[in-house]
Parts: sequence; structure tokens; C-alpha cells
Amino acid sequence: MESYHIRGGNPISGEHAVSGAKNAALPILAASIVTGEENLFSGCPRISDTAIMREILRYLGCKTLLSGDQLLVDASGLHGEEIPKALMEKMRSSIFLVGPLLTRRGRAVISQPGGCAIGKRPIDIHIKALSQLGADIEEKDGQLIFTGTKLTGANILLDFPSVGATENVMMAALGARGETVIHNSAREPEIMDLQDYLNSCGARIKGAGTSRIIVKGGYPLHGASHRIMGDRIEAGTYLLAAAGTGGELLVKGIEADAIKSLLKCLRHAGCHVKKQPGQVWLKGPKRLSSAGRIQTAPYPGFPTDLQPQLSAVMTMAEGKTRMEEGIFENRFQYAKQLIKMGADIEIFQRTAIIKGVNFLQGECVTAEDLRGGAALVLAGLMAQGETMVEQIGFIERGYCDFPEGLKKLGGDINRNK
Ligand code: UD1
Repeated sequence: MESYHIRGGNPISGEHAVSGAKNAALPILAASIVTGEENLFSGCPRISDTAIMREILRYLGCKTLLSGDQLLVDASGLHGEEIPKALMEKMRSSIFLVGPLLTRRGRAVISQPGGCAIGKRPIDIHIKALSQLGADIEEKDGQLIFTGTKLTGANILLDFPSVGATENVMMAALGARGETVIHNSAREPEIMDLQDYLNSCGARIKGAGTSRIIVKGGYPLHGASHRIMGDRIEAGTYLLAAAGTGGELLVKGIEADAIKSLLKCLRHAGCHVKKQPGQVWLKGPKRLSSAGRIQTAPYPGFPTDLQPQLSAVMTMAEGKTRMEEGIFENRFQYAKQLIKMGADIEIFQRTAIIKGVNFLQGECVTAEDLRGGAALVLAGLMAQGETMVEQIGFIERGYCDFPEGLKKLGGDINRNK
């Protein structure tokens, strides 16, 4: 079984350039089918989730060609509307295909999307919003069939600022007659990247980054070139690795504003942080202090996707940390693995109380989801002795060359087959 072997204790120091953001790449690759033409993406992250998205695009009739971090998607041959269950189950982000397929083909057939087991993750907000645009939705033999050849722009109020639902509605609204206004839209930076890409294809979208997005539908769309924005979650993970090991790290390819809430916690925990255009520098103290009370929330709140990694680092900080998970109801599974390593964590429903211990001990631990898996890697880098992390397939869904990246920065980590 493939695993990472880590000998803890080395500071993570040096320079790291982040790859393109997974959470920007996935909706943007899905969106490319609305153009019916060739699109060239640079900064495409080489992770298994984007490989699955390419597989889905090819199944639907697109051609894709990957060279380094450049990905060409030729959507001129798009012929399908149905995503097979096997592909759908591999990745929750396959739900992003619904909006673009409705715009391009007037029909989309999916089964319930898969993804990491971090909560129930229903798709009711997507369904309600798409039906407000006029899509018919039918459930038959375990499949969801969306039909909508005559979508009409509408005023849509999302019950919760769901990232995926915001993006799906933006993409479906491109094919709707008239104007769509999405109220209570999610404000994540990746939504701005999707807007930028779509506007460069000829779309008329404004407001991404705020809680009110306006899409003018019905404009002809064409292929475009686009650079995928840097991955703020990868940046945060590396900064936390440096913070937890007393390292000094410059992370390039990221705007500090996109991880403002994390940088605030890191400063609170005793790190020196400097923001520069397109990069962030951090120096960790000998021992971190607790970051205090943290609650994950939609952007610009503290990102749920960095909650496990921050918790891992807090296990060895001085004092008590209170971590409240405000987005997903089941995002503390990794805690029992950290407890095996000697961490003192108590879970009360959606809250973890972490009391800092003097050391963690290397152990054999198992990743159960993407970010929880990254948290175990960070714990391994901080621990005494050797840590083996199993089920690394979860981690490789979202981190490109993770062991190689950490190794270059001084981490003693190897990937074993
Ligand atoms: C996206 C990110 C994921 C991140 C999450 C929250 C991508 C590819 N993934 O996921 O990494 O953790 O945002 O920042 O961008 N919900 C419903 N009904 C819905 C949709 C969502 O109840 O129809 C709930 C979810 O169960 C969850 C919350 O809303 O509790 C947030 O989900 P959402 O913002 O939609 O996350 P994703 O788009 O799936």
C-alpha cells in the first residue's frame, strides 16, 4: 500500500511556489465546455482531482492535452450530457458539470456526487437554484436528470453561501435569457477566478467576491487562455508546516489577502509574518502559542479546508485551542489519529478542544480525507521518530508532489510504494 514515511524534527524552511488552485481549476475546467472551442489553461495543478475532471471532459467528447502545468481543453467535440456513476462517485466536483451542460446542451444527467466523507454534503441548494432558473429536475433510477432548454434569468437567494452552488448557478445563468442575480453568493477568491475566466470567454458577469453576483445571459462565448490562480490552501498548509517546525518560509504565488484569517491566527500564535505582493514570508517561534478560539466560516472567515492542518500544529502549542467547525459536521475524523500520536484533543460535536502537549510520537496513521490527511503529514513533521501515513490517495487528490515539495524544504519525507 502506498504511504508516506516521515522522520520528524526538521524545520521546514526555504522557498515554495504554490501550484494552481484545485478549487479554482475544477469549476473552470468544467466551465470550459460552455465555449465549444479550444481553451488553454496554465497553472493547472497536477493532482488526481483534475485528472478525474479531465477524464469526465473526455468522456463527454472534449479533447484534453496536458503538458507540464499547461492544459489544453478542446470542447468542440462535446457530444454527451451524461456523467457515468463511476466517475461521479470519484469526485464531488463533478456536480460542477451540471451548470455548463445545461448552458451548452440543455440537459445534464448525474448521480449523487461523491467526495471526501467530511459531512452529509447535500446538493439541495444547487437543485433549488437551478430550478429557479427554470430547469426541470427529475430523479429516476438513482440518477438526477436536469433539463432546461429555455432557462430564464432570475433573482436567486441562496439559503447558504455555498461555493459550488454559486459557481453552478453562474455557469447555468450564462445560457439563460436575461439577467440572473445571485444573492447571498459565496465570496471565495476562486469564484473571482471563475468570473475572470468566463468574462475572457465573452461572458458578462460582475460581483464575484461580493455576496451579489450578476450574470447577463445569452452572450456568445468563445475559447480563451487563462492562468489558474495560486492555491491558498496549499500556501496555508506549507506555512503551517513551517510554523509547526520552527522554520522560516517564503511562499510564492499567493496574495496574502486570500489567507488573511490564517495569517492573523499565525501571528496570534507567535509567528512573524510579512506580506508582500504575490508572496508571504513566515518565521515560526521555537514553540507556538495557542491560536486561541477559531471558528471556520465562509470566506473571508477562517477556511474549513485549513482547519485540520491548524489543529495539527496546535497540538504542540503552549496552551489550549478551541476549534469550532462551522461548515462541515464531520471534519474531526483525523483527531483520533493525532491522539494516537500523543495529542490531547477532545471533541464535543462540532468543537475540538486541543491542549498543547510537549511532544508527539511517530506512529502509523491513516488519512481518511484530503485535508485531514495533510494534517497527519504536518504532525509527522513535528513528531519525534517515524510516522507512516497510509491511504495517501486522499492527500494526492489535492496536493501536487507534496513529499517532494516538503523534502526540498528540509522535511525528511518519502513516498513508498
Ligand atoms: C467547496 C470547496 C471545498 C470547501 C468548501 C467550503 C471546491 C471544489 N471545494 O466545496 O474544498 O471545503 O467549498 O469552503 O471548491 N451545502 C448544502 N447543500 C448544498 C450545498 C452545500 O447543505 O446544496 C452545505 C454543505 O454540506 C456544507 C456547506 O453547505 O456544509 C458548504 O458547502 P459548499 O460551500 O457548497 O462546499 P463545496 O462547494 O462542496
